[in-house]
Amino acid sequence: MLDSPSRPTSSATSSSGPSTSTRRNRKQGGDGRRKAVNRLVENDLIRRVSYDEYREKVRDVYAGPKGALLATCSMLSLHSPMGERLFRKQKFSLDGTKSILDVGSGAGQIVKHLLKYAPSDARIVGIDLSPEMLRRARQRLRSDRPEFFSADLTHLPFADESFDCVTCGYVLEHLPDPRTGLRELHRVMTPGARMLLLTTEDSFGGAWTSRLFCCRTYNRDELREMCHECGLSWHRELWFSSVHRLLRAGGICVELVKPE
Ligand SMILES: C[S@@+](CC[C@H](N)C(=O)[O-])C[C@H]1O[C@@H](n2cnc3c(N)ncnc32)[C@H](O)[C@@H]1O
Repeated sequence: MLDSPSRPTSSATSSSGPSTSTRRNRKQGGDGRRKAVNRLVENDLIRRVSYDEYREKVRDVYAGPKGALLATCSMLSLHSPMGERLFRKQKFSLDGTKSILDVGSGAGQIVKHLLKYAPSDARIVGIDLSPEMLRRARQRLRSDRPEFFSADLTHLPFADESFDCVTCGYVLEHLPDPRTGLRELHRVMTPGARMLLLTTEDSFGGAWTSRLFCCRTYNRDELREMCHECGLSWHRELWFSSVHRLLRAGGICVELVKPE
């Protein structure tokens, strides 16, 4: 008796490649190995010590040579030019913004783009945990326009609903629990405000970033869930370029919105 054409025999299956369940098992095995390798590379300090101890370590890291080289590293890794492209091409639009908060300004990499692309009457405020990084930002930008404050993302020195736009580049990975920062950002955002969030992903490249800067990484799906939990909707994922999208090389880049 002939087999029904809709039910392939085992020989037909093997000649047309592995079955769906075999492929799924292989993929799960591959994902498991990849995660195990990434865990070996990643820095785990953030999980081992208290937040106060970890924060001191972060201040030390950025006060030292890594902080001094941050602006150069952002150029060489293309993060800075690719970040500028997001504003220039209006993938993240600053049109109509009145008050912008840049969180974890570092050497002023994002503030530099804000000075160039934000409306000329918009207030630009930057905060950073590291006074030394703020000194470097001021020195590099040579502009009186941005207001800088030394502050922790989890305790922002601003009233509720102060900003209609937030940029937060590669800072959230320095929090053991991102929700402590996301809730605080939600508090200072006006209803309808938008946020450009850039952060380190749980990829191989991300694991090396974690090792270099003593930070954690994020799983994209888990982070999306946590944003929703904190009242921020994951409006749309952004990509620096088609290569970024293909290789997932540039980390997580997303526009978040505080609903009206
Ligand atoms: C990798 S740099 C990011 C610089 C810049 N935003 C960019 O997009 O390239 C991270 C910065 O976040 C700051 N930072 C780390 N933890 C922070 C916290 N809890 N609150 C505020 N700033 C923090 C560090 O001091 C450092 O300057």
